Amino acid sequence: MSRPLVYLAFPVPDDVLARIEAACVVVKFGARGKPAKPDILAALSDVDGVLGTTRVPFDEEVIAAAPRLRAVSNFGVGYDNIDVAAATRHGVLVCNTPGVLSDAVADLTLGLIVALARRLIDSERSVHEGQWMRGAAQLGSDLKGKTLGIIGLGRIGREVARRAQPFGMQVCFHDQFRDAGEGFAFCAYRDLDDLLREADFVTLHINLSDETRKLIGGRELALMKPTAYLINTARGQVIDQAALAEALRSSTIAGAALDVLEREPPAEDDPILDAPNVLLLPHIGSATRETRRAMLDLAVDNLLAALRGERPPCIVNPEALERAPS
Ligand code: DGY
Repeated sequence: MSRPLVYLAFPVPDDVLARIEAACVVVKFGARGKPAKPDILAALSDVDGVLGTTRVPFDEEVIAAAPRLRAVSNFGVGYDNIDVAAATRHGVLVCNTPGVLSDAVADLTLGLIVALARRLIDSERSVHEGQWMRGAAQLGSDLKGKTLGIIGLGRIGREVARRAQPFGMQVCFHDQFRDAGEGFAFCAYRDLDDLLREADFVTLHINLSDETRKLIGGRELALMKPTAYLINTARGQVIDQAALAEALRSSTIAGAALDVLEREPPAEDDPILDAPNVLLLPHIGSATRETRRAMLDLAVDNLLAALRGERPPCIVNPEALERAPS
């Protein structure tokens, strides 16, 4: 039997390439930047598997243009860039990398909470600008005794909750379930509106879906305390970003930290770029050497298992296994 053809959307280290090439023929690397759709369609026309989807939106047209495709192995936990229903219809397995990045994203989230509470960015800038002491303008707030509201108590949300405890924060959460589960009795369930009213820091750890798109808009921001902060390390589109920019401008909330934006990178005239009291990062939640390597290894495990006809360790649409050609 001939070895399967695999499309790699980004360059990988030599040892990883060797591991893939031991079982597959690697057909193409994605060029830097966002490839044009006709190029994607042409590149995928004869491949059996794809590794990495960050720059390739896997919609129905792309999936249909790849008649031999058996598996799409996403390099990341979020798979909102893939039309999973279409993949399932075409018998294409969709895999992702949950778990291995939870610590890195939770670490960053706590870093953002501390940065907001202690005005780290302002203070850092003022030292560079030659202003050492700024009196009351330097004063932040303690985390001890403050309430952290976690929207989405999944793998990452739980790690955030775990880390908030030693800071002395009260933790409440909102999710589809009300029972936080074993070891998380310190997390109190709240309806979404109550959480927004109560929390001093609101942090988002939900997938992007039709249900969560623009979950936090003008109405929700107006429920938050004027002293509260919003942190987003999930997906930009779960917030109505124009409403957030306006809420920051009108001091409806005290500030925000966003690792993810509605559009990445943002347009030059995006109002969020000029909004006050907002800390912006370029989607670096999982960006540590250790975590990125663990994500890559898991993505390759998923891809190779799927191409061997085995059940991959992390599969998003197990129902596609029944439809996949053996
Ligand atoms: C993920 O895994 O979904 C992170 O956002 C990295 O893209």
